[in-house]
Amino acid sequence: LLASVGRHHDHMGNEIDEQPAVAQRVLDILSPGIDGGTLWRGLGLPPLDRIDRIAVLGCGTSLHAGRAVAGVFERLGHMPTRAVTASEAAHEVWEPRTLVVALSQSGETADVLRALDTVPADRGTVLALTNNPSSSLARRAHAVIDCLAGPEIGVAATKTFVAQIVTGACVALSGLAVSARRDVAAFDADLLALGAIPETLSAALDAWHNRAKRLAADLATASGFLFLGRGSGLVYAAEGALKLKELSYRWAEHQPAGELKHGPLALVDAGTPVFVVDDGDPRLDVDIAEVRARGGRVLRIGERTLRVGGMPLHLPRRGPSWGPLETVVPLQMFARELALRLHRDVDKPRNLAKSVTVS
Ligand code: AGP
Repeated sequence: LLASVGRHHDHMGNEIDEQPAVAQRVLDILSPGIDGGTLWRGLGLPPLDRIDRIAVLGCGTSLHAGRAVAGVFERLGHMPTRAVTASEAAHEVWEPRTLVVALSQSGETADVLRALDTVPADRGTVLALTNNPSSSLARRAHAVIDCLAGPEIGVAATKTFVAQIVTGACVALSGLAVSARRDVAAFDADLLALGAIPETLSAALDAWHNRAKRLAADLATASGFLFLGRGSGLVYAAEGALKLKELSYRWAEHQPAGELKHGPLALVDAGTPVFVVDDGDPRLDVDIAEVRARGGRVLRIGERTLRVGGMPLHLPRRGPSWGPLETVVPLQMFARELALRLHRDVDKPRNLAKSVTVS
């Protein structure tokens, strides 16, 4: 059984390691269907030019994955998108011609199923993106796509997050491939970035293997953590904070980096650990300087820096529309290493269930 082998004693560690292979599996199966829009059509979805807006719906990690997928429709198709927290959907207003992308690894999350009850039948097409294609969610949706992660045993979602984003990106790119809305140059750049995902995930795993452990030893006594990001990096900051909370039971908060000066900067003191997810936005340099000026300890994730004459030169880059996916790897690894150091059960964090079937 895949779940029982691997270099770690816990499932979570092995599931983190599996991520490049999971991404490759999704790409092998789904990416041939991008060209000509065959994947999109095969799902029975209406042409994207007959859809006016996208709503991604989910809870926790699945909602974070949904936000990343929404970025593809938004940035490549210039479509209005919104993210709906399933447990807060009771008074949601659903406009006609909405594509609702409901994400849930289990497909059994009660909040998600209940939120779908609020979508009038004539208003939205529901696409379920799940790791369980025979789930209640799959039965309720007009179209279903399996995110192909394989069994995930650890309560904290890791490989299903990556699988949802890669799957969702393939589906969105397939819809956009034959749409007049498509930004052609950005679309082509994203196709290249899509194929490189397994490699970038592997590189992150290799780079952080020892570093995550050392950092966890260094930060074991920190009582709180800040996670910052901008634009497409923000969902990864949010996911990093969620992983840290659920595994280590330490306080962690994520914020758009630009919001620091509107309040959260007061939390930063000598040594406060501040993870910064770098999506290439040059304004992060200013945010980082603000943190450093208060003595905060900045941990920049995903940075691309060249040293020119001893001076750091940050390379500008336009990342893919789903954001810097590989940055989640060190954040997952750090959360796990810190939790192990604090003698937590990383596969079964306290108070949590793998599938939340009550709302
Ligand atoms: C993730 O690490 C959490 N355990 C949790 O946020 C989870 O993502 C959420 O409960 C949604 O679950 P689902 O994907 O099965 O719907």
